[in-house]
Amino acid sequence: MNEKATAGLFDLTGRTALVTGSSRGIGREIALTLAQAGATVILHGTADSPKLREAVDQAARLGGGHVECVTADLTSPEACATLPGQCGKLGLTVDILVLNASVQNYVKIETFTDAEFRREFQVNLGAAFQLIQAFAPAMRERKWGRIVTIGSINQLRPAARLSIYSTTKAALANLTANLAKSFAADNVTVNNLVPGVILTDRNEAALRDDALRTTVLGEIPAGRFGTTDELAGAALLLCSDAGSYITGAELPVTGGMHL
Ligand SMILES: NC(=O)c1ccc[n+]([C@@H]2O[C@H](COP(=O)([O-])OP(=O)(O)OC[C@H]3O[C@@H](n4cnc5c(N)ncnc54)[C@H](OP(=O)(O)O)[C@@H]3O)[C@@H](O)[C@H]2O)c1
Repeated sequence: MNEKATAGLFDLTGRTALVTGSSRGIGREIALTLAQAGATVILHGTADSPKLREAVDQAARLGGGHVECVTADLTSPEACATLPGQCGKLGLTVDILVLNASVQNYVKIETFTDAEFRREFQVNLGAAFQLIQAFAPAMRERKWGRIVTIGSINQLRPAARLSIYSTTKAALANLTANLAKSFAADNVTVNNLVPGVILTDRNEAALRDDALRTTVLGEIPAGRFGTTDELAGAALLLCSDAGSYITGAELPVTGGMHL
């Protein structure tokens, strides 16, 4: 296969991607990569913030294409429900939906509150369900769509201090597999990308604890933590024509931690 043909497989020119939780971390990196591949990208954050604005500017610089942003606190189903309308107002139709935003809390099951339980289920699972329900029908109609849910090593190897977070991610993986079956005939793929321990704001404080850092590193065959750019290639594969026959996959990007 020549270089042009290979590049074409990953070319997202003419596609529009919405990446939730893309003001920072893994979501930001995925959004920048999709922009570089030629997609129009809609970034998302809880609320307008300098980080979100910086990510939008960076995506526009790298991609040179159309970049927008939307905001909604996904702890609120009502706020989440405004996202399709916000994208519509921009005149954009979403072809690629990356469900990346999530929340977690290091709490033992004994001290978990009802409110925290509901918050984690709403952001990590409920919002994903709402957004798939809103965006998938048009993808099916157009006979082209990509949905990527972001899971976690915790759905495969649940950490005791992240019990409800792990549960939400396992449920999201199951929903992903289920929808993959339903949507496959319409050329809409649905996959679950499973990060291991990736250095982001999320775990920065926890990994400052030397004992925890050493324990966790000991569980990673690669012997190091991952970086956000190491997720980007796998995300691009699942979002592009290169991944056209991949659906229902649970793809670990973990340095072997899932083994
Ligand atoms: N980092 C890891 O080691 C790791 C491991 C396994 C799985 N993951 C998964 O990978 C994904 C990204 O993780 P990350 O480490 O990049 O996260 P992060 O650095 O904590 O960033 C979280 C992103 O989600 C957004 N967000 C948080 N709460 C939200 C809410 N209530 N409503 C709307 N948006 C919200 C944040 O927006 P604001 O900036 O506006 O707050 C931010 O853009 C998550 O699904 C996570 O579960 C991460």
